[in-house]
Amino acid sequence: MDLTARRRAFPALDQRAHGQRLAYLDAAATSLQPRVVIDAVVDAALHAAGNPGRGVHLLAEAASVALDDARHEVARFLGADADEVVFTSGTTASINLVADAWGRANLGPGDAVIATELEHHSNLVPWQRLCAERGAELRIAPVDEDGRIDLAALDALLDSKVKLVAVAHVSNVLGTIAPVAAIAARAHAVGARVLVDGAQAVAHLEIDVRALGCDFYAFSGHKLYGPPGTGVLWARRAILDAMPPWQVGGGMVARVDRAHARYREPPYRFEAGTPNTTGLIGLGAAIRFVRSLDRAAVAADEARVHAAIARAVQAADGTILGRPEVGVVSFALGRVHPHDVATIADQAGVALRSGHHCAEPIHHRHGVDASTRASIGCYSDDDDVAQLARALARVREVFG
Ligand SMILES: Cc1ncc(COP(=O)(O)O)c(C=O)c1O
Repeated sequence: MDLTARRRAFPALDQRAHGQRLAYLDAAATSLQPRVVIDAVVDAALHAAGNPGRGVHLLAEAASVALDDARHEVARFLGADADEVVFTSGTTASINLVADAWGRANLGPGDAVIATELEHHSNLVPWQRLCAERGAELRIAPVDEDGRIDLAALDALLDSKVKLVAVAHVSNVLGTIAPVAAIAARAHAVGARVLVDGAQAVAHLEIDVRALGCDFYAFSGHKLYGPPGTGVLWARRAILDAMPPWQVGGGMVARVDRAHARYREPPYRFEAGTPNTTGLIGLGAAIRFVRSLDRAAVAADEARVHAAIARAVQAADGTILGRPEVGVVSFALGRVHPHDVATIADQAGVALRSGHHCAEPIHHRHGVDASTRASIGCYSDDDDVAQLARALARVREVFG
């Protein structure tokens, strides 16, 4: 599937935005869904309409089988085993699961967690709260001006008190890629676990959790061409085995009497309540779609479009935050407020994100409260960039 065919696979691109061609440059907030995902969700709502794992009738059985297929699809995508794949509602839920279940069981007074300076609030606030509750210390690993994690500074923070290092695989603001394998080796040397927030990585990088060497990997379906309200927590089987449940209730128990409950094996132990069956089946379809693509060709197209966006921003006298490598370009256009940039761009049919993108500390590191962000998917093309360039020129005209 070349870029033209990939664009055709996404029906949302057919619509006009304020009478203009739609240039959807907000994939990092949420990506568009290909027709195969939309069809899979509709098909699941019709034919896998029962409650998975909770019935012997046709529609319940179909839901169970389809959900199981989706789990295997995710496992193949991550280079993992299916029983290590926990379904959640998204990255935020996955990280909260680790903080609440693993964190409460493994962190005590005097222990420490390290998060980096560029984390999304979803990979920072759960650790802030956990550390405050457990009397533990939260240490922040700095990044340099380009947005690269300072490994020497990280080394200085790592000691035997550290129980967890939490890091974004790809920054949602700077677009930099973390050296996860190097971080994992350092963390493991002091006995710490490593949690990787893969929300911005899964759509752009090939993921192999074993090669990364991490212990937890979290991502959201809606940033990988899947439906919102779907997500994954991958963890090593031995860690899941030793982990107490997070939420408790139906579906995650093996046996219950009036006073006690015996929990099921992972991953089901971490999936209390009826899951988002249609969404998760859609996530399976999204991963099948991604796996069907020539990922090298997608990466080449994305690299070209990404570089062109950076050039368009620079041509408009914009200042790029950090030195982005993949997916996103965040920038300031002089003193024009990012919301004004995004509003004028919207009128020109260009969808951008403005604000702090749920990552305030890294904005403060760059001396701003907010930025404008253009972000791409496998359907982004040179026309999107040309439209962005015209929109930025219009912002210049309006604001002088
Ligand atoms: C790096 C990163 N982590 C976590 C999240 C949270 O994802 P979700 O809102 O799908 O839970 C996002 C979403 O923007 C993100 O970019």
